[in-house]
Amino acid sequence: MPEEITRTTETSESSPPTPGAQTPSSAPQVPTSALPQVQVATIDTLGRHEGQSVILRGWLYNLRESGKLLFPIFRDGTGTIQGVAHVKSVPPAVFEALKGLTQESSVIVTGKVRADKRAPGGFELDVEDLEVVQRVPESDPYPITLKEHGVDFLMEHRHLWVRSPRQSAILRIRAEIMRAAAEYFDTNGFIRTDPPILTPAACEGTSTLFPVDYFGDPAFLTQSGQLYIESTALALGKVYSFGPTFRAEKSKTRRHLTEFWMIEPEVAYCDLDGLLKIAENFLSHIVQSVLKNRASELAVIGRDPAKLQSIIPPFPRITYDDAAALLNAAHKTGALEQPFEYGNDFGSPDETWLSSQFDRPVMVHRYPANVKAFYMEPDPANPSLALCVDVLAPEGYGEIIGGSQRVSSYELLSSRIDQHQLPREAFEWYLDLRRYGSVPHSGFGMGIERAVAWICGLDHVRETIPFARTLHRIYP
Ligand code: 4AD
Ligand code: MG
Repeated sequence: MPEEITRTTETSESSPPTPGAQTPSSAPQVPTSALPQVQVATIDTLGRHEGQSVILRGWLYNLRESGKLLFPIFRDGTGTIQGVAHVKSVPPAVFEALKGLTQESSVIVTGKVRADKRAPGGFELDVEDLEVVQRVPESDPYPITLKEHGVDFLMEHRHLWVRSPRQSAILRIRAEIMRAAAEYFDTNGFIRTDPPILTPAACEGTSTLFPVDYFGDPAFLTQSGQLYIESTALALGKVYSFGPTFRAEKSKTRRHLTEFWMIEPEVAYCDLDGLLKIAENFLSHIVQSVLKNRASELAVIGRDPAKLQSIIPPFPRITYDDAAALLNAAHKTGALEQPFEYGNDFGSPDETWLSSQFDRPVMVHRYPANVKAFYMEPDPANPSLALCVDVLAPEGYGEIIGGSQRVSSYELLSSRIDQHQLPREAFEWYLDLRRYGSVPHSGFGMGIERAVAWICGLDHVRETIPFARTLHRIYP
């Protein structure tokens, strides 16, 4: 039930004004008994209050003034709405407080909800009352104006930039992606098990480790929870982990962060084929949830939902060899600048081109084992290939999921650890998983920010996480 209050100042019980906040001396002094009961509402639910007066608690996003008419745009975190205040329709003190009010001043506004087909959200607010909680001073105005700003400036002010309607819509979609991702596993028999963040060894190659001084011993921030959830998968059957992961990536691409969130399922008695089925159902569930629950946010950021509606299984499956042939053909026709050298991992332009050839994610499987991680099971039909998959998102977004069947033989894993010059002591526990009841098992990891970039249609992962960590940025 929405809160019921009789006058706007009572809201200070739930959110006290910050000390020193200015309450204008012109605040309306109306006897409590004179006002009807007015409900606190949020902008995303105004449809339920058409024709009624409501209280909105938020901020002034923008103000247009034309003589006796003021058109404030309010935002409250759930959306934006345009208000209308005519000098004759509001108390003089309210008109005065609103006139010249500065961008991002915090306000509690009472107004009547009026349907308006032309309004982006379908409603406008006829302002009746206004309390300024904190007025942003003219002498130190909100730094992000409505004109264009450069990306560096915006990233430097990320703590404020997140307030823009576009950035908040992206964060709301991100939250839905994370919710739906966890929901898929929670409702399909997976148990969430959380791996450690501080680890003694590498999972994804030694070149991107962040070292930590662990009471005098070397340790690292985790690159992936995989090795640990292989253990919990052999304990619980179907598990997943969901948490931050770290890569000291020196690359400055639009796809790389140094800190990002990964969700990783791991399943005992599951082979590569079984894993591909999980991956396509999982991705489809996420995209369909965003379409269902975040349609208005997709509209705010201008993302065409038609591009997402086709994301339903089955997804195309091609082998690395097929992909290499496609890339060579593309090079011959001039669609790709560089020829593709068989045996290498795909470069960024290769992935971009490949993933723009399909209307849904394409699952590329069986890469040459020597470009992939040490823990991947070889293909029995051709041991030079790994039983692995990269899922490339359409529209040129490239890899969003990486996964594989895991080496299950003790002897092979042991020799791989030596080949890759990994410190044996740190992997003894991992070898135990092959000493005691080893079974075929498989898993994958999806980077949340890559998925958000694709689903939102963004150019760069820096807008997909509240505070991006990249090669040259650790502020704010
Ligand atoms: O392909 P990756 O390196 O696979 C693993 O870490 C496996 N251990 C996962 C597993 O099998 N459980 O990373 C998985 C995904 C990538 O597909 C990508 O979406 C994301 O993590 N990712 C990054 N996202 C942002 N910035 C980076 N630097 C990323 N590196 C990987
Ligand atoms: Mg990968």
